[in-house]
Amino acid sequence: MRQITLHDKTFEISIPEEKILEAVKQIAEQLNNDLKDVDKPIFISVLNGSFMFTADLMKHIEQPCEVSFLKLSSYSGTESSGTVKELIGLTKSIKGRTAIILEDIVDSGKTLEELINTLHTHKPKEVKLATLLFKPDTYKKDIKLDYIGLSIPNDFIVGYGLDYDELGRNLRDIYTLVE
Ligand code: IMP
Ligand code: MG
Repeated sequence: MRQITLHDKTFEISIPEEKILEAVKQIAEQLNNDLKDVDKPIFISVLNGSFMFTADLMKHIEQPCEVSFLKLSSYSGTESSGTVKELIGLTKSIKGRTAIILEDIVDSGKTLEELINTLHTHKPKEVKLATLLFKPDTYKKDIKLDYIGLSIPNDFIVGYGLDYDELGRNLRDIYTLVE
């Protein structure tokens, strides 16, 4: 198994690029189907972790649409700090529109909840959520996740946009922490 070291920790490959891209394509196909009659949906990508997912997903979206970016941070090291901060606000109006949040991963759901609350103050018609990865064992909220790429165990992962203290975002594959 291919291993890498980032800072002080070792990771081994757990989801190869091919499987990730297949999950991305499946989400895109569902979105293309569901958004057919939606006028100019706006995708809201949650930085930094979602940049790769956003880029690959958007290439498959057929509908004329917009993409906007929000920057939040909740993780420090390998554990959720429990507090979520909105760092960069929304630059485009989502009033009366269908907004689709693009997340790299939903863990406890705290980030998602705060994000949805923030977005609702901008009076969209509806807010949907697409996440590439989901950790069902740690999810604590009741918010419905509309589109899920892959459900994964409660392990710390890096790669394909996800980081361990800012390293690992550039990796094409996803790696899991070796205890
Ligand atoms: P939540 O608020 O607990 O759902 O955490 C969501 C955010 O934490 C994600 O958007 C990621 O940025 C980060 N995160 C959660 N799990 C992992 C992981 O395993 N590796 C890297 N970042 C993670
Ligand atoms: Mg994130």
